Amino acid sequence: MGLWTKKSILSLQGEADAAGEGGATLKRSLGALNLTMLGIGAIIGAGIFVLTGTAAANFAGPGVAVSFMLAGLACLFAGLCYAEFASMIPIAGSAYTYGYATMGEFVAWFIGWNLVLEYLFAASTVAVGWAGYFAAFLGEVGITIPAAFAAAPFAVEGTHTLVRAFTCVDPATNHAMIDAATGAVRAFADRAACTAGGGSVVDGVINLPAVALIIVLTTLLVRGVQESATLNNIIVFVKMTIVLLVIGFGFMYVNSANWTPFIPENTGEFGKYGWSGVIRGASVVFFAFIGFDAVSTAAQEAKNPQKDLPIGILASLVICTVLYILMALVMTGLAPYQSLAVPHPVSVAIANVPALKWLEYLVNIGAIAGLASVVLVMLMGQPRIFMTMARDGLLPPLFGKVHPVYRTPAVSTIIVGAIAASIAAFFPIGLLGELVSIGTLSAFAVVCIGVLVLRKTSPDLPRPFRTPGAPVVPLLGALSSIGLMAALPPDTWIRLAVWTAIGLAIYFFYGMGNSTAAKKERA
Ligand code: ALA
Repeated sequence: MGLWTKKSILSLQGEADAAGEGGATLKRSLGALNLTMLGIGAIIGAGIFVLTGTAAANFAGPGVAVSFMLAGLACLFAGLCYAEFASMIPIAGSAYTYGYATMGEFVAWFIGWNLVLEYLFAASTVAVGWAGYFAAFLGEVGITIPAAFAAAPFAVEGTHTLVRAFTCVDPATNHAMIDAATGAVRAFADRAACTAGGGSVVDGVINLPAVALIIVLTTLLVRGVQESATLNNIIVFVKMTIVLLVIGFGFMYVNSANWTPFIPENTGEFGKYGWSGVIRGASVVFFAFIGFDAVSTAAQEAKNPQKDLPIGILASLVICTVLYILMALVMTGLAPYQSLAVPHPVSVAIANVPALKWLEYLVNIGAIAGLASVVLVMLMGQPRIFMTMARDGLLPPLFGKVHPVYRTPAVSTIIVGAIAASIAAFFPIGLLGELVSIGTLSAFAVVCIGVLVLRKTSPDLPRPFRTPGAPVVPLLGALSSIGLMAALPPDTWIRLAVWTAIGLAIYFFYGMGNSTAAKKERA
């Protein structure tokens, strides 16, 4: 029956070089190095530059390094399963396609719809984070973006109340009020507190820097995947160099007293220090690992996908995991973990050691570069997944068009860019952050279970890359993904349910009737 229709691996393999609407195919130009760099481009971003501080200060203390190990291990299990599928089914739909091949159309749609949370929403969320760093950087060189045009008009208060967003501006400088001790933008509970603190309230209108970033990157992505990969390579080089400098020089100044106790005692509250805190910390820093799976959306642009996709996925994941653990150790070794609950914890950690002052400026550049490449790769992945879904009939054919000259999914890329820019411009990002993680984790769980299903149903299919240790590794991958989902705040689950309900409505009204596989079955 339609809902459970599966696509055979053989027919999927035949689709890898099929032309889209209009007759053009994607251009195969990426090798193992470019794919690994794409993975690193998507991985290192807001997670390490922002969330490490929150996780250390609020949940795990210096034990956040262990949180990174746990989240990294969960991702490694999932990454090994992604690698098996990517080598067998090199189709740009990633987890959506793997779901179609193993669990049928309905599960595939559910995962495809959740991947929107991962790619599109992550692009918007990280673009807003980027805009914050960029505006601060411009401020340092004397260029001020009026506060009204650097912030969305709405914010979320509590768990789901929409309020008018404001920035508290210092009338003397026209900049957001800065905390002299930490150098961070000051947070005010309400407008009255801002005025009482000597600031003036400016209502947010639109987040222009975030919109500008998305427009520039979308244009580049329409222009060509090779061009985009080249820019990504440059950015990745810059951010990796800066991360390595922080680790190398930072270790020389670590004060080991800051690491004692390594996992502070539990405060009596679940998730606040102690082992429960380390686990909650892992669910928060999981965000930092999202992106290695984006490599699989470049499957139809890889020169040798069977061999190079597993390399790209696993190499980028392992490199970033090692860097993250070292970075977490350095940050909590340089400054007391309690001081890291700020939007720019890497700078705060470094500022604690006068001899490292010179690194502060570079860290800001690293963050600006890092966050930009995350947005780039997310904006690259989403249209390719939509393209695959359109070819299967689950989305309108428009999404499946390939540009005849640039050979990119141009229409889909522009639609995704426009939606991502609108979300970043006007909508409260706080509402979306954890949705990105839960959406991604649900895809990971399906991919891990899918590996087991396919090993049972089609044991003899050639698998250029085999997940080692099956069935234990895929099982651990699924369990750890579900475990991390469970550790996320309950509100996130409610939002996921709402999102799923919208997705189901679209499927029943559009996808089910238009699905190519179902049409074939009916014929
Ligand atoms: N892993 C990406 C980041 O941390 C999403 O920004």
